[in-house]
Amino acid sequence: MGKIRVLSEQLINQIAAGEIVERPASVVKELVENALDAGAARIDIEVARGGRERITIRDDGEGMSHEDALLAFEHHATSKLRATEDLERIASLGFRGEALPSIAAVSRLALRTAERNAGGAAGGTLVEIHGGVIRDVRPIAWAGGTELVVRDLFFNVPARKKFLRAEATESAHIARTVTHYALAWPAVHFTLLSGTRRVIDVPPVRSLDERIHQLFGDEFLADMISVDAQEGGVRLSGFISGPHQRRASTEAQYFFVNGRMVRDRLLATALSQVYRGIIPGGTYPAVILFVEIPATDIDVNVHPAKTEIRFRQAWQVQTFIRRTLETAIRAHRPFASLADWAAPAEPADTPAGDTPTGETGSAADAVRQRVHEALADFSARPAPPMERRFTFTHGSTGAPDATTASPADRRPETMAPPVPGAAATETGRWRVLGQWRESFIVAVSPDELLVVDQHVAHERVLYEAFRRQLGERAVPRQRLLVPETLELSPAHREELDRAAAGFEIEPFGSGGTVVIKAVPAMASRVEVELLVRDILDRLGDAGASFSIDEVQRRVAAALACHAAVKIHTPLEPEVMQSLVDRLLAAEEPTTCPHGRPVVLRLHIRDVEKGFKRA
Ligand SMILES: Nc1ncnc2c1ncn2[C@@H]1O[C@H](COP(=O)(O)OP(=O)(O)OP(=O)(O)O)[C@@H](O)[C@H]1O
Ligand SMILES: [Mg+2]
Repeated sequence: MGKIRVLSEQLINQIAAGEIVERPASVVKELVENALDAGAARIDIEVARGGRERITIRDDGEGMSHEDALLAFEHHATSKLRATEDLERIASLGFRGEALPSIAAVSRLALRTAERNAGGAAGGTLVEIHGGVIRDVRPIAWAGGTELVVRDLFFNVPARKKFLRAEATESAHIARTVTHYALAWPAVHFTLLSGTRRVIDVPPVRSLDERIHQLFGDEFLADMISVDAQEGGVRLSGFISGPHQRRASTEAQYFFVNGRMVRDRLLATALSQVYRGIIPGGTYPAVILFVEIPATDIDVNVHPAKTEIRFRQAWQVQTFIRRTLETAIRAHRPFASLADWAAPAEPADTPAGDTPTGETGSAADAVRQRVHEALADFSARPAPPMERRFTFTHGSTGAPDATTASPADRRPETMAPPVPGAAATETGRWRVLGQWRESFIVAVSPDELLVVDQHVAHERVLYEAFRRQLGERAVPRQRLLVPETLELSPAHREELDRAAAGFEIEPFGSGGTVVIKAVPAMASRVEVELLVRDILDRLGDAGASFSIDEVQRRVAAALACHAAVKIHTPLEPEVMQSLVDRLLAAEEPTTCPHGRPVVLRLHIRDVEKGFKRA
């Protein structure tokens, strides 16, 4: 007997749906696209439990007739495409006639719709479909426009349901999707209600700038470089971040091609080429970029979720984009001064190569000032006698814990002084000789010469201390004298709660503002806003899908990076010795939380070999 069977129609539909509907946000994307294609001026979205329980989308677009309302759920039934030629110049967001049948196959769905003029008394239509099976069709009173209610997504596809992430993750994806379309269509009023929270409410505005203000707050545009250029039939416009803004993920990158949100490799490549020499590896710019190109020059029919496209003249487009961005950045800020942090000529006056934002001039001074303050208590002590200075180390149990110290001693875990009375278990194992270029600590052990990167060493020490505090649920907090208010994007607000280890964060007013009232004591001297933004960046797109442990890891890494002493900072010998001692007591003294080396060693054997003494 043969082994090949033809699949049942229901199974076929579920498989097809799987390609289009990956998660609740894909439903939102398809339905928002439909509403936009229908010419809606207002789109209201409501989701319950991250869209897993319910997604409701209402629009005031052209609506559907009774007949069309049923046809809409047939596969390959679309009003947007008629002939093969149309496929080569798709101007609408939808074109396949696949979205509605796919969503209907994997949920319990209700459609209410009426054509704009035919609405009213009983001019509307209700269609209910559960798992692809029509349950009800009847005329209803409906004012016009369309509403779709999608319940229990994947109720009949348990395999897919298992892959759904925490509610917060799915909500964040939805918020990001709506943010995307809200950026591309400033003239449309979007609202997004997630549970009882009004995440987005952006009335129509005339320009992208205004829409960005609505979504991201006042500060977002301040440091952005505007771009607008045209070549041949292609136009590139929008905003990109300059050299001083760096994100730890691509989360703050929004790309559009002809109003469609895309994940495009060509654009991503162009971006990385442009920023390669401008911001450090592993960091990313923020961009909101629109490409407008004749519909005949792209193929949008290459990806089931329509999020990828193909440019017919890929190379030219990529080159155009790269040149345009390079020109924009150069005009904004001459490259010569980028050397501030890329290749410092005057180490003493330039900030660290890896501070979260490039700081120059007075900002750099401020950083150093803060470090000095952090160390002030210690520096003020009389220097220990020379012999003793190099003889104390902390035992392998670790540095004194800020949580157990007496209240008077409880100070930010920045660079605590050594404890002179502590048991010297491995006396003088690493003896600090001095500081090189105000960035590296040179030390020796009996067998090795060691060069320690002061920033990453401190980062490692702080990282472990903070992880320990988190583990013991005993993070000392520092109330901020002046609470810090922040404007956050909708998706970010969704994520902040989970990441909030040691922070005290509250919503403030309606819009997108939160107020930070307390921070982990360790971070009491850093710039809170930069820190919080960095944390959110590190959590990135996938943020809420991380385990708590991974979230804490990333929060701790961000915190350590911000609180650690920077390079190009002069340090007292005692401070260096303390740092080295504490590094030795760390669990993983060899690499920083990001995997970079902390210490370079030269063994005496190699030295002797070099001098031909071996
Ligand atoms: N909100 C809406 N308002 C008016 N008409 C709609 C709406 N949503 C869907 N339709 C109609 O139903 C048809 C089918 O929608 P569906 O999303 O399944 O396919 P599509 O948008 O044509 O293509 P794609 O599968 O690429 O999204 C559309 O072509 C459109 O005519
Ligand atoms: Mg569609």
